[in-house]
Amino acid sequence: MENRVLYPGSFDPITNGHVDIIERGLKLFDSIVVAVLKNPKKRGLFSTKERVAMILEIFAHEPKISVQAFDGLLVDFAKKNQARIVIRGLRAISDFEFEFQMALMNRKLDEETETLFMMPSVGYSFLSSRMVKEVFFLGGSVHNLVPEIVEKKLEQKLSQGKFVLSP
Ligand SMILES: Nc1ncnc2c1ncn2[C@@H]1O[C@H](COP(=O)(O)OP(=O)(O)OP(=O)(O)O)[C@@H](O)[C@H]1O
Ligand SMILES: [Mg+2]
Repeated sequence: MENRVLYPGSFDPITNGHVDIIERGLKLFDSIVVAVLKNPKKRGLFSTKERVAMILEIFAHEPKISVQAFDGLLVDFAKKNQARIVIRGLRAISDFEFEFQMALMNRKLDEETETLFMMPSVGYSFLSSRMVKEVFFLGGSVHNLVPEIVEKKLEQKLSQGKFVLSP
């Protein structure tokens, strides 16, 4: 059986921290489904479609990566994709409490789905999508923190006057 795993998140936008986790995962698993959460309650900077498109472009050369948008329960989406493992990134301690709760809730919902945590390279362990947006919006450089295509899309949003930071 193919060892397929799910990597869920908002990816608004994908950062080099996410890319780092995906690349580590590629060494361990046959394929990774990057699952972009559609969250109607949280207005993001990029639409779900835009997030998916950026990730597809970044991994266009990588046949082991697929990208899908999803909503509803993660465990249901994992089942639908025949993935028994969910990978999550763990940064500095700030992620721990929330991730711990979520992993145990997902286990309660479905005993078969296992959550695996991976640590990024130390250089990315303080990097978040929110930080990237804030720094970029305030005129700081996000070069080397996000893939080139993301930097380009951030510039586009800004020049179109469509740069919104949600609270
Ligand atoms: N720099 C990073 N290093 C390792 N894992 C990360 C990094 N950024 C995000 N992740 C992990 O990727 C998954 C999806 O994260 P998500 O899309 O919510 O990104 P985020 O950076 O936390 O976004 P936001 O700033 O909007 O909360 C989570 O498991 C998260 O812990
Ligand atoms: Mg987060």
